Amino acid sequence: MLITNIKGLVGLHPKEKLVLRGREMSDLPILENAWLLIEDGLIKDFGKMSEIPSSILHLPSTDAEGRYVFPSWCDSHTHIVFAASREEEFAMKIQGKTYEEIAAAGGGILNSAAKLQNATEDELFESASIRLKQMILQGTGAVEIKSGYGLTVESEIKMLRVISRLKKAFPIPIKATFLAAHAYPTAFKDNHQGYIDLIINEMLPKIAAQKLADYIDVFCEKGFFSVEETDQILKAGAKYGLKPKIHANQLSVSGAVEVAVKNKAISVDHLEETNQETIDSLKNSNTIATLLPSCSFYLGISFADAKSLIAADIPVALATDFNPGSTPSGNMNFVVSLGCIKLKMQPEQAVNAAILNGAAAMEISNDYGSIAVGKRANLFITKPMPSIAYLPYSFGETQIETIILNGEIYNG
Ligand code: NIG
Ligand code: FE
Repeated sequence: MLITNIKGLVGLHPKEKLVLRGREMSDLPILENAWLLIEDGLIKDFGKMSEIPSSILHLPSTDAEGRYVFPSWCDSHTHIVFAASREEEFAMKIQGKTYEEIAAAGGGILNSAAKLQNATEDELFESASIRLKQMILQGTGAVEIKSGYGLTVESEIKMLRVISRLKKAFPIPIKATFLAAHAYPTAFKDNHQGYIDLIINEMLPKIAAQKLADYIDVFCEKGFFSVEETDQILKAGAKYGLKPKIHANQLSVSGAVEVAVKNKAISVDHLEETNQETIDSLKNSNTIATLLPSCSFYLGISFADAKSLIAADIPVALATDFNPGSTPSGNMNFVVSLGCIKLKMQPEQAVNAAILNGAAAMEISNDYGSIAVGKRANLFITKPMPSIAYLPYSFGETQIETIILNGEIYNG
């Protein structure tokens, strides 16, 4: 496939550049007036229209006059396998109940877990497929999906099996994260160690034997898993080769970042609450800070301090956190808009955070997250736009016209 007359080919980071930090995050290389050649699902070549080789002019081509071509969004944090939406909590939230109060009243994660227990694997696969298709049509071309609404041996495995099936059924890379440490089930309310033992002695060996997970996650937060409990679970995961990607500092500065960095986490996600120690601990690590501004938007909690993180040379990624409780949306375009509007990132920084750094937060930036020869051709073509800033600026309205996955047009 050949794409011609591209107004701007966006995200031409060199292939060896796997993650962006500090000033690099402001650098979003764009080639204007360009062509792009795709072969065997990969980016084969690109260049300026004025220098297009005559040897490729006969190829069937798509004209992208006035349009930009972006690498697909890389959404590195989602919980899209769930049994039911939770809009009844939406009303409680509007009345003024906090996330913690709703959870304490039997809502929250335990509510989703109860519903998931009764859903079949097929039902979960079907509903997650609908969500994933919608996300892809909104420009997402790589995704991470967590378990964590199972909270029993059987149901956690059921969720991870659904993710395995999604991996086979969809033409995009999918990473699976084991998040049994999402909340304490009611039966273990007063026996935390009992549940941790179940995770370590029952769930982890089974999941590892069936190769059902790529990463391990813990919701390290007051009222959920403590720093010591998190450390214990991450160390057990490491014995099975599962690297951490953890829920950190969503509601409070909890020590989650420090314990994650100590356990060599790939990413710490949320970070709505940070202080100087949090930033210092990340500064001396390779851990990516994954920010989820649509969660802050929906819950009405703080927005992460992206500017301080970037100023401290910490790589920042943006992801959706799509889940039924705190972020009922998988729209990366809106996340990029919020990155600009609420996190005060420049459009170039927000786009980089949603492409290359998102790919890095799933360890796939060798093959995804930028336009470079030899990388996978997962891309989107925009509608005609005046500039790349127009995409986050025109929030709530899609600027995406064509989705290309592995070099082929995707229609859902
Ligand atoms: O990332 N914080 C923990 N987990 C999810 C919310 C889960 C839920 O409320 O169902 C999150 O926000
Ligand atoms: Fe989450």
